[in-house]
Amino acid sequence: MSAPPVVDLPIEDERLAQDVANGLAAVEKLLRSSVESEDAFVTEASKHLIEAGGKRFRTLMVLLAAQFGDPSAPGVVPGAVVIELTHLGSLYHDDVMDEAPVRRGSPSANARWDNTVAILTGDYLFAQASDILADLGPELIRIQAQTFSRLVQGQIRETIGPRDDEDPVGHYLSVLADKTGSLIAASGRFGALLSGAPADVEERLSRACEAIGVAWQLGDDLLDVASSGAESGKTPGTDLREGVRTLPVLYALASGDTSRLTSLLSGPVAEEEVEEALTLLRAHPGMARARAELESWVDQARADIFGLPDIPAKNAFLALCDYVVERSG
Ligand code: IPE
Ligand code: IPE
Ligand code: MG
Ligand code: MG
Repeated sequence: MSAPPVVDLPIEDERLAQDVANGLAAVEKLLRSSVESEDAFVTEASKHLIEAGGKRFRTLMVLLAAQFGDPSAPGVVPGAVVIELTHLGSLYHDDVMDEAPVRRGSPSANARWDNTVAILTGDYLFAQASDILADLGPELIRIQAQTFSRLVQGQIRETIGPRDDEDPVGHYLSVLADKTGSLIAASGRFGALLSGAPADVEERLSRACEAIGVAWQLGDDLLDVASSGAESGKTPGTDLREGVRTLPVLYALASGDTSRLTSLLSGPVAEEEVEEALTLLRAHPGMARARAELESWVDQARADIFGLPDIPAKNAFLALCDYVVERSG
């Protein structure tokens, strides 16, 4: 099983395409050197997922957002590495929580070693991110802290589930905004701030990126149902096995009927029933409804992007919106 490749946006402007390619290469170099430890095992465990692949979607957002100021400002590349390390650490931990065996087309760290190694490597990655962040100043440290606080609270609320008096769809969307939208919003904000872009552009980018982030996670949840492991680099049906109720599942359960599908989805799905549940869910109208919800978040992002200054990066953000929609199938 291979990992999905780095996001390959169609960028028409040659200077922008070159800038992004140079930025991605510089981020890659610093990302790898930032996890080097005197302990060879710590380095190996940290590089495991970096080398396995990853789309570098958040790095791309930092680099594109930085185009609205001075993209060659010295903090931009370290800022992108901080975001990517935070994301990476959260994946090491997420795979423990979700008992996921595969990530980026390779065995997850918990599968290759064990939960202890995966948890501590995630912690190490967060520490390395903080070390780089310290040089970027208190404003960025605070944004990162508040972002990470939202991410973790989103993960906790997902685990606990909605309160009895809470609308499950509202709960689900707020979990998505916190666990995923927060870090993607921070990517846009980091790029804007570190390049010295105007404050109104920073706000607009942050809002647009948060909406893209919610759409991104909605797409990820659809892919957990609809894709093959070869496309996603992950094991399809992981949400069902863990009993995490994603939007198509919530829509299927809300129909209130007593079908085989609703009975399968009433709790964590047993391994021998996952394939059947996936087949039934793929054919359920809840899939199209969830896709429509994803598109409404992307439209919300586009509305903010339209108001950005007319530079080539604006079109690249619009292309990124198209990519998020197309990826979901
Ligand atoms: C995976 O993020 C976790 C989610 C928030 C959906 P990505 O889909 O960006 O994962 P990588 O970095 O490409 O592996
Ligand atoms: C991942 O959410 C979100 C974070 C790591 C904060 P999921 O558990 O839905 O993502 P995947 O499908 O494992 O990448
Ligand atoms: Mg997961
Ligand atoms: Mg998870």
